[in-house]
Amino acid sequence: MKASQIELYNFRNYENEKISFGDEINIICGENGMGKTNILEAVYYFSYGRSFRSSGREIIKEGQRESRIKLDFESNERNYEGEIKFLSGKRKEIYLNEVELKKTSQLLGNFICVLFTPDEMNIIKGMPEVRRKFCDSGIMPLRPQFIKELIKYRNILNQKTALLKQRNYSTLDIWNEKLAESGSKIMMMRNSYIERVLEKAKIYQNDISGGKEDLLIEYNPSVKMGENADEIKENFFNKLEEYKEKEKENLFCMVGVHRDEIDFSINGKNAKNYASQGQIRTAILSLKSAQMEIIKEESGSYPVMLLDDILSELDKKRRDFLISQIRGKQIIITCTDIENSFKSYNSNIINIKDGKVQKKRAASPISHPD
Ligand SMILES: Nc1ncnc2c1ncn2[C@@H]1O[C@H](COP(=O)(O)OP(=O)(O)OP(=O)(O)O)[C@@H](O)[C@H]1O
Ligand SMILES: [Mg+2]
Repeated sequence: MKASQIELYNFRNYENEKISFGDEINIICGENGMGKTNILEAVYYFSYGRSFRSSGREIIKEGQRESRIKLDFESNERNYEGEIKFLSGKRKEIYLNEVELKKTSQLLGNFICVLFTPDEMNIIKGMPEVRRKFCDSGIMPLRPQFIKELIKYRNILNQKTALLKQRNYSTLDIWNEKLAESGSKIMMMRNSYIERVLEKAKIYQNDISGGKEDLLIEYNPSVKMGENADEIKENFFNKLEEYKEKEKENLFCMVGVHRDEIDFSINGKNAKNYASQGQIRTAILSLKSAQMEIIKEESGSYPVMLLDDILSELDKKRRDFLISQIRGKQIIITCTDIENSFKSYNSNIINIKDGKVQKKRAASPISHPD
C-alpha cells in the first residue's frame, strides 16, 4: 500500500497544493499551526472516510464553499485515484477511479493506513468507547460486513431507545431479538480480532521491554461469549430478558455491544490503573504494530503508517523499535524539528511554511538500526 500523491483544494488552510510522497520515509516538517496534521488528516480520509480529529472544526477552507482532496495510491499492484468532495452542510461525495461510491463503507479496505498520535495513549487510559473504537477501526478495513453490522446495530439500538423513552413496550421483544442477532455477530468479530492482536502484540511488548513486560488483552463483552453464533445470540437475548424491567425503569439499553469492554493488563495488573507512561507507550506501539501485521496477512500488503508528533514522545529504545518497523512500509510523519528526528535517514522532506508546501530531498543515505 503506497500513497503517491495528494492534492488539496480549499482543504483546511490549504488553497491548492499537490504533495508527492516517496516510497519510504516522508517527513512533513514545519512550525506549529502550519498545516502538518491537516495533510495526515486528508490522507486518513481515504482509509476511513472520516477525520481522526474529534473537533468540530470545518474541513472547508474558511470563506470557501467547497473543498476537494484527491489521493493517488497503489494497492496490490493496482493504481487507484480516490477523490472526496466536501460540500456545504457536511455533505460529501466519494469517488474511486472516477466512479461515485454510494456509501462511505465502500471506500474501506482499498487504501489502509494506521495512525499513531500521542492521543492514542487513550486506548489504554481513556473511556471504554476509545478501546471499542480501536478494535472496530482495526476490523473495518478488513471486513466490509463489519461496518454494515455496526450501522445496523446502531439503528436497532436507537429504535429501541426511542421506544423505551416513549414507554412503548409492545414491540420490545422484537427489537431485543434483532439486537441479539446483530450484536452476536459483532461480538464474534471483536473476539477473534482481539485474540489475533493479542497473539502478536504480546511478542512486541516482550521484545521492547527486554522480556520484562507481559501484555494481556481481554475482550470483556457485556454479554457472555459462547462457543458459536447461536449460543452467543441465546446468551444475548437471555441477558436482555433479564434486564428488561431495569431498562424500563432507566429508559435506556443497558445490555449490548455498545457496553463492551476491552481490558489491558501488564504483568497481571490492570494497565489503565497501574501501568507507567512508558509501559503504556510500549503497549500502544505493540498494538499498532500488531494491527499492521494483521493487515499485511489479510490484504497482502502493509498499510501506510501515519505518525503525528510521535517521535518526540518516545525514548531511544522505543524510537529504534518504531524505526525497525518501517522496513518495507511507507511512512508519513510530522515533526517540528527535523534535526532531532530523522537526521540520518534518506527521506522525502516536505517543508511547510506559512501554509504553503515546499519540497526538498535529503542527501544522506538510509541507515536502519539493526
Ligand atoms: N477550515 C479552515 N480554514 C482555514 N484554516 C484552517 C481551517 N481549519 C484549520 N485551519 C488552520 O490550520 C492550521 C492548523 O493546522 P494543523 O493542525 O495541521 O497544524 P500543525 O502544523 O499540525 O500544527 P502543530 O505542530 O501545532 O500540531 C491552523 O492555523 C488552523 O487555523
Ligand atoms: Mg499537528
